[in-house]
Amino acid sequence: MSSTAHMNVPIARTSLLESEIQSVMEPLRSGWLVQGPKVREFEDKWSAFTGAKHSIAVTSCTTGLHLSLAAMGIEPGDEVIVPAFTWIATANVVEHLGAKVVFCDIDLETFNLDVAKLETLLTPKTKAILPVHLFGMAADMQTVNVFAKANKLWVVEDAACGFGSRYHGDHVGTLGDTGVFSFHPRKAITTGEGGMITTQDDELAAKLRRLRDHGAAMSDLQRHLGARPYLLADHPDAGYNQRMTDLQAALGSAQMDRASDIVLERRQLAQRYDEAFAKLAWLRTPVQQIGYEHGYQSYPCLFQPESIRPDSVSRINERRNVWMDKLQKLGISTRPATHAVHMLTFYRDKYKLKPQDFPNAYAANDCSISLPLFHGMTGEEQDYVIEHVLESAS
Ligand SMILES: Cc1ncc(COP(=O)(O)O)c(C=O)c1O
Repeated sequence: MSSTAHMNVPIARTSLLESEIQSVMEPLRSGWLVQGPKVREFEDKWSAFTGAKHSIAVTSCTTGLHLSLAAMGIEPGDEVIVPAFTWIATANVVEHLGAKVVFCDIDLETFNLDVAKLETLLTPKTKAILPVHLFGMAADMQTVNVFAKANKLWVVEDAACGFGSRYHGDHVGTLGDTGVFSFHPRKAITTGEGGMITTQDDELAAKLRRLRDHGAAMSDLQRHLGARPYLLADHPDAGYNQRMTDLQAALGSAQMDRASDIVLERRQLAQRYDEAFAKLAWLRTPVQQIGYEHGYQSYPCLFQPESIRPDSVSRINERRNVWMDKLQKLGISTRPATHAVHMLTFYRDKYKLKPQDFPNAYAANDCSISLPLFHGMTGEEQDYVIEHVLESAS
């Protein structure tokens, strides 16, 4: 029986310092609310932290992924490889450009792309690949990049969850042609909604900056600071409006001042869970891989009270849901780690897919469980989760 009083532990909780909340007042007082000096400051801090040559703030990770593919000229008739287990946005942006989504199964160990399958998915129409650094664990970028180079494919890293994730020392987002991060409140740095594109490529960066701003050759800030602010810019492209506001950027920029502390705190919380659950054969905690530094956007586990096989998945799924329900009643929020996109109605119907077509994505969809992890989580909250997870074993 439990020894502690009932608590409510959310799956994630936004943690903002008073100074970070106050930072939003600056653009409000200055009157410059749209993309301006605060966006530039946030982008500079992002580049300094990640080592990216260019950082381009946008309205969300989804719009950043879309903008990347648009800048690369992805169009109807093209095919783009996307992992089958990821947030639906990774696939949706391909659909938005009229291209075809080609799903790739995942490796159940890492929840990331099964790179051994890539060759089998290649056709003359393949133009790009979207590796996802799911939950803060980098994808196998060495293999992805070799494959992409050999076949002249663009690489867009979906780094929505990738803040603080490193691959052999390099921060994710600096390894493909572009990388895109999310600032949704379930991510480590938040601006409410928001995203950041990173790239090492000067030409791509210039195009992305234009495309996010109606295709304008010059941003409003550049024009206002220039010699002739009264003349409007030219528009070489029919772009979009995907500009981040200065209110959001002020909030993001303020949090970047404790970026390393945030990463460290999340790693320490994860390590505590790792140690507490090390002996539980029925709960597989996130794997450790040499050369990979996990950013722990979340703490995704596999519930495996018996070995996961195609014929045991639905049975395990039922038991997992019973367990999730029990934890929910105890005040502990959990979630499936994410969803298998090929099992969602739109993709299932459009591409005539069955769950078993991507067996590992199917298993991850039905047997994964994320436990609460967020910076700002108290020791008591984590004790409470640990106590009840351990209790579930008995
Ligand atoms: C893997 C992945 N890609 C893309 C997105 C979309 O991010 P946003 O909500 O910033 O558009 C998310 C959001 O959760 C995600 O987890």
